[in-house]
Amino acid sequence: GVTSKIAPSMLSSDFANLASEAHRMLNYGADWLHMDIMDGHFVGNLTIGAPVIESLRKHTKAYLDCHLMVTNPLDYVEPFGKAGASGFTFHIETSKDNWKELIENIKSHGMRPGVAIKPGTSVEEVYPLVEAETPVEMVLVMTVEPGFGGQKFMPETVYDTLLIFWLISPSFSNQVRILRKKYPALDIEVDGGLGPSTIDMAALAGANCIVAGSSVFGAPEPAQVISLLRNSVEK
Ligand code: DX5
Ligand code: ZN
Repeated sequence: GVTSKIAPSMLSSDFANLASEAHRMLNYGADWLHMDIMDGHFVGNLTIGAPVIESLRKHTKAYLDCHLMVTNPLDYVEPFGKAGASGFTFHIETSKDNWKELIENIKSHGMRPGVAIKPGTSVEEVYPLVEAETPVEMVLVMTVEPGFGGQKFMPETVYDTLLIFWLISPSFSNQVRILRKKYPALDIEVDGGLGPSTIDMAALAGANCIVAGSSVFGAPEPAQVISLLRNSVEK
C-alpha cells in the first residue's frame, strides 16, 4: 500500500532563513520538504530556482519535493538534478507533447518524476503517464489554482459534492477519488488550502502525500498540525 508523506510547503517559510526553517519542519515531523518553483509565466508569481535548491541541499539530506510551475520544465531538469532535487513534478498543461522525454530525463538525472494537474484539467490526461513504460511515480492534484500560498481549498478536486458541477465541468471531476480507485498503489499528492479543517476530505478521497503551507507555518504549534494531518491520512 501507500505510505503517508507530510510535506510542509517552504513557500510559507521565511526564505531568508531557509535552512533553519527546513530543520525546524523536519524536527516537527515533516517527511518531505515541498519546494514551489514558479517562473512568473506559467503562474503569476516568481519564487526560487535551482541555485536555492543547491544551497539548501548543503544543509539537509531531506527529500526535496520540487513542484515546477514553469512553462518549460525540460529546461529545468539538468539544473535541478545537479542541484540535488529529489522529486521533480511538472505540470501536464505545459508538457502534452514531450512528457515521455521529460520523464526519461528526470530519471536519468536521478530524480523521481511526478506530474501535476490544475483544478480545471481532466484527470484522464495523466493516465498515459502513469501507465507508460517509464511512468511518473506520483500525481499531484492541485486543490487550489497554482501560484500562491494561503488560498482556500477547492473541495470539488477531491470529491464530487455537487453532481451538477461534475456534469458540466472537468474542474469538478473529483480527480483524487478517481485516481485512487484506478491506481491503488500510486502516490497521490494534494496541494493547496490543506489544514485541519480540510484534510479529512482529501484523505478520504485517497490522497497520501499532503502538502501544507500556511496551515503549518501559521500554527502556534506546527508539530501538532503535522501529526493531525498524518493521523487523518493513516486512519
Ligand atoms: C500553490 C503551491 C502550494 C502552496 C500551498 O501554488 O503549489 O504548494 O504553497 O500553500 P497553502 O497550503 O498555504 O495553500
Ligand atoms: Zn506546490
